[in-house]
Amino acid sequence: MSAPVTGLSHDELQQAARDHLWLHFTRMGSYRDAALVGGSGSGKTTEVPIIVRGDGCYLEDSKGKRYLDALAGLFSVNIGYGYGEEIGQAALEQMRELPFYTNWSYAHPRAIELAQTVADLAPGDLNRVFFVSGGSEAVESAWKLARQHYLARDGKHGKFKAIAREVAYHGTTMGALSINGIESLREPFEPLVPEVRHVSNTNRYHRPLEETEEEFTRFLLEELEQTIQEMGPETVCLVHMEPVQNAGGAFTPPAGYWQGVRELCDRYDILLSADEVITAFGRVGDWFGSTRYDINPDIVCCAKGLSSSYAAIGAVIASDKVMEPFMEGSSVYMHGITFGGHPVMSAIALKNIEIMKRDKIVEGVREHEDAFRSTLSQLLELPIVGDLRGTGFFYALELVKDKETRETFSEEECEWLLREYLSSALFERGLICRADDRGDPVIQISPPLVARQEQFDEMVGILGDVLAEAGDRMKR
Ligand SMILES: Cc1ncc(COP(=O)(O)O)c(C=O)c1O
Repeated sequence: MSAPVTGLSHDELQQAARDHLWLHFTRMGSYRDAALVGGSGSGKTTEVPIIVRGDGCYLEDSKGKRYLDALAGLFSVNIGYGYGEEIGQAALEQMRELPFYTNWSYAHPRAIELAQTVADLAPGDLNRVFFVSGGSEAVESAWKLARQHYLARDGKHGKFKAIAREVAYHGTTMGALSINGIESLREPFEPLVPEVRHVSNTNRYHRPLEETEEEFTRFLLEELEQTIQEMGPETVCLVHMEPVQNAGGAFTPPAGYWQGVRELCDRYDILLSADEVITAFGRVGDWFGSTRYDINPDIVCCAKGLSSSYAAIGAVIASDKVMEPFMEGSSVYMHGITFGGHPVMSAIALKNIEIMKRDKIVEGVREHEDAFRSTLSQLLELPIVGDLRGTGFFYALELVKDKETRETFSEEECEWLLREYLSSALFERGLICRADDRGDPVIQISPPLVARQEQFDEMVGILGDVLAEAGDRMKR
């Protein structure tokens, strides 16, 4: 990799970051008083991590240190970091031709082409694409769409509530935040948007050992139906869930689950929205998780992988049924954002999809997912690793105190294990993945879809050492 492109030195960048940059979801206080500590090595860094470049599955920081990015940015750089020239050229050409125009009442060629391309890839009759700038806006837009769909169809207000799942992350804008199943994220911003209830997610690891998959599915569907009935089916417009739930650690659905959810939504006249902000565009080995799990949603939310995060673009994809009332008379979906369908963002997303098709990125996930899983499963030999779950290139390792009883760690233990030790130890060793305790403590692994055996082995090598050490230290 060549020299950094920035004009500021490493120390100048550090200082400017501390003085002016507000990092998302970050304890900024840890950087306030800390002295700059050059080359660290203590396992505890006081420096703002500054990433300056990327290539393939690897990143480099402002000191020239290399990292394997086993999180693909934020579950999002699906083609990896190596296509900057090609995608940059597409962006440049679009900038020359038309740097900006809006989708408010107007169209332009790139938004039209991208809408057609996405609709062609999406399952069933998901034919209508509304562009936004990211995942939260997609979720926000899906809920607003569901509310207004029923108003436009029935001519009356009243069907406005939503159902989502516990511990699920769906974004941070007020509507999307209200749909979130993570209490600690919602709590500072209450009162939230009325009214959302959360049902159980598909975490099987802490269910009774003797429960069969069929019984688990039945339990989940009965709970969902009961929740719909308690809320009043005539008031619920949306069920919003991920094909594979990220927060809590890559919860895959038990057999028959999605078919049952679809059936309940039909029975109670509720729109089913698949949050595919992570799962779409190859992450679970198909263009859409909805295809892989035969979900038949009415609405799909996507973002991240749509452009492999080379651009800030997301989309809500609506079925013909959802669109129908908006095709009547003077009906208008009363929603829009300046940057929705931005021509440069659309050109980048189009190029990303072209690259994914040409370089057979989704096929690559299918071809290598078994090898990835079996490499990761070596970590199950460690006493601290209780469970490996997920699919495609989307996995989580659940960390436990006692493998036999599946006992989890206390809050205090998690604080040390995840924040004090694991995050910095993995980073020190040059591996970026996420140690997360929004549910039970997990390590999330979701590399660029171009990762291969060499990277699988590197991940497992580093994780194996660091988790073994963590297990030993927890016992002390
Ligand atoms: C499932 C899901 N939905 C929505 C979002 C919000 O997306 P964004 O951060 O682009 O607003 C995320 C982000 O991680 C997500 O994982």
